[in-house]
Amino acid sequence: MELVTKILEEVHQFGIDRRSEPIIALGGGVCLDVVGLAASLYRRRTPYIRVPTTLLSYVDASVGAKTGVNFAGGKNKLGSYVPPVATFLDSSFFQTLPLRQISNGLAEMLKMALMKHRSLFELLESNGKKLLHAKLQPSETCSDSEQEDSAAASMRIAIETMLEELAPNLWEDDLDRLVDFGHLISPELEMRVLPALLHGEAVNIDMSLMVYVAHQKGLLTKKEKDRIIRCMLGLELPVWHQDCSLALVQKSLEERLKHSAGSLRMPLPTGLGRAEIFHDMIEDDIICQAFHNWTEELSGFDGGVKDT
Ligand SMILES: NC(=O)c1ccc[n+]([C@@H]2O[C@H](COP(=O)([O-])OP(=O)(O)OC[C@H]3O[C@@H](n4cnc5c(N)ncnc54)[C@H](O)[C@@H]3O)[C@@H](O)[C@H]2O)c1
Repeated sequence: MELVTKILEEVHQFGIDRRSEPIIALGGGVCLDVVGLAASLYRRRTPYIRVPTTLLSYVDASVGAKTGVNFAGGKNKLGSYVPPVATFLDSSFFQTLPLRQISNGLAEMLKMALMKHRSLFELLESNGKKLLHAKLQPSETCSDSEQEDSAAASMRIAIETMLEELAPNLWEDDLDRLVDFGHLISPELEMRVLPALLHGEAVNIDMSLMVYVAHQKGLLTKKEKDRIIRCMLGLELPVWHQDCSLALVQKSLEERLKHSAGSLRMPLPTGLGRAEIFHDMIEDDIICQAFHNWTEELSGFDGGVKDT
């Protein structure tokens, strides 16, 4: 919030004409969130343009209306729903990102693949590592145009599926949101271990556990569960974390119930690229067993990409 007021002071001193001079936010998701909130406050609403420069903000924070900052130890507890007047997408910004930041963005792409798009999942499964190490840039050699296609296609599908979910529900009147997959436990985990985990890494750890929950509930076969976890590891994402305890999981789900009009509204995969929202609290024994198997099979896979 201090950063928001600092930006507001600069905007004020600059003396912008809000009718013809939109504020331009150029940076990662944090920058877009903070500048977006400042723009939504200045004179109640000053137009702003988003220019995402990380993969995560390109596929996720670029679309939708949300802005926000952390408050009282809670993630994005203060914010607004004010969409930008435009978003400028240029993937060449990713060239200067460390690989870990690319993996971070791939987690949000994988979320959309698991919820809505089997072909995107298969693309990330077969090509994910190559895309990661090429930083999703178009190939320079004409002979390898396949890579260019898969980089462009994977980002296009991720954004299109995200838009399909967000556009009809910009103000989140409908609380049943597939895009919440990976976001039930991760906010608590992310805030607790800050800055150890990046946003997408915490989301991936949440998704990894939920894949075990879905398997325990009989929604995913063992083969499907294993394919998803292998794909996550191929994207060099952490799939487990020692601070993601059973107590943290249970607390997060109870909080969710409290803040989601008495319904859990938990998105879970019911196949590869298919999902449903579950309203009732998941039985305790399913959560406990899934958590136990998850820890037994994956503890140690908390690495992900190391170069920050
Ligand atoms: N508003 C939304 O709809 C929305 C959606 C998804 C995520 N988010 C938020 O976005 C945040 C995560 O965003 P992020 O992953 O972009 O992290 P980030 O904004 O912290 O950026 C990561 C780091 O990369 C640096 N950076 C940015 N672009 C670069 C470039 N091209 N080359 C080199 N370095 C660069 C940044 O300075 C920063 O240090 C989370 O807080 C999350 O809550 C918001």
